[in-house]
Amino acid sequence: MKKVLLLGASGSIGSQTIDVLLKHKGKFDLVGVSAGNRVENIENLIKNFANLNYFCFKNEKDYDEFLLRHPEKQAYFGDEGLIKIIEDSNADMVVNALIGFVGFLPSIKALKLDKILCLANKESLVVGGEIVNSLLKNGHAKLYPIDSEHVAIAKCLYNKKIEDIDKILITASGGPFFLLDKEKFNDITPEDALKHPTWTMGKKITIDSSTMMNKCFEIIEAHYLFNVPASKIKPIVDRKSHVHSMVIFKNRDIYLQVGPSDMRIPISYALFEGKPDNGKYFEDVEINTYGKYEFYPMDYEKFPLINYGYFVLKKGGNSGAVLNASNEVLVNAFLNHKIKYLDINKIIDKIMSTYAFIKNPSVEDLVKTDKEVRKLTEELIEKGK
Ligand SMILES: NC(=O)c1ccc[n+]([C@@H]2O[C@H](COP(=O)([O-])OP(=O)(O)OC[C@H]3O[C@@H](n4cnc5c(N)ncnc54)[C@H](OP(=O)(O)O)[C@@H]3O)[C@@H](O)[C@H]2O)c1
Repeated sequence: MKKVLLLGASGSIGSQTIDVLLKHKGKFDLVGVSAGNRVENIENLIKNFANLNYFCFKNEKDYDEFLLRHPEKQAYFGDEGLIKIIEDSNADMVVNALIGFVGFLPSIKALKLDKILCLANKESLVVGGEIVNSLLKNGHAKLYPIDSEHVAIAKCLYNKKIEDIDKILITASGGPFFLLDKEKFNDITPEDALKHPTWTMGKKITIDSSTMMNKCFEIIEAHYLFNVPASKIKPIVDRKSHVHSMVIFKNRDIYLQVGPSDMRIPISYALFEGKPDNGKYFEDVEINTYGKYEFYPMDYEKFPLINYGYFVLKKGGNSGAVLNASNEVLVNAFLNHKIKYLDINKIIDKIMSTYAFIKNPSVEDLVKTDKEVRKLTEELIEKGK
């Protein structure tokens, strides 16, 4: 039985991970969870998982209140708490379903402690893909992605050689604005951008999917996960999100993975370490639903942010941390109606052309970069008002 620590249990991936764990109670033992602002479901989790004893809260107030109710449990709070809970809970497996940079240091800690890391927090690879891979190479940790596209690619690559790949095609739904005139982009509101055509996800990734920053991150993620050069990784649009990604091999075999848009599939792939779990999450699939394919090229003019995926992989160093930090601040500002939709692109362009480059950053350098770029982005937002 694998002992599991779930970081970000209150989020979209976190709650779907709970669903999968409940389905396979004999195989996994949930020993610890973290939550941010949404702490309502914690009591339910305690009822459902007998050995759940470690808890981390974003806010000290929630931590205090929790310990008053449950003095017998072990609890922590804040960013440091996310590290302490990994150290103390003695889990075999850490599911990192945190959103944004806050997930980076927990990923590093899990890898340093030789855990099995089930990684939804793609920002960890965007910020520090080189460091993550060197920890994997030099230690005994394992990493399994929780991302529909990358799990699809991993399935297509089963028993295949990386050198036989001609191209990896990462599918994108195109988001809500694929057919919208570019001239109208500046009128896009957060409410418009939160209407994803095919997936229901947390707010930040939904905005990233509309700007294609999510696809940009996924190009970086694919490079670090599969050790494939950026030139062989391309986005392609499948408006229905039925094809989760594909691989074209040099002999022109095309492998693709199709199926419902349901994150429990990639989550179970990671929890079961790449083996089939045979869990039935929905009624039988109707093959004709998934048998008709229609692909479109990515529109790089409408969605220029996607190019930063290639930029970051070419430039390396701290450029991914810079991109991630500015994007996080800008998405938050857009969601709070502080900036217009296209300001996200404009300010990212400004920051990406001026930041202080560090060639071989340490983890500490990346933390410093993140802090400085957040401040700089806030200043540019203020200036633009
Ligand atoms: N959602 C999807 O379908 C999907 C698909 C593929 C990949 N991913 C990736 O999975 C990750 C999680 O995405 P999501 O959509 O599940 O996001 P989400 O719904 O916003 O959940 C994020 C989780 O992180 C917690 N959190 C946020 N900031 C925190 C902080 N400062 N300290 C402690 N906890 C914090 C949140 O707590 P509260 O909500 O309680 O504040 C929540 O539990 C992201 O990296 C995303 O790119 C998501």
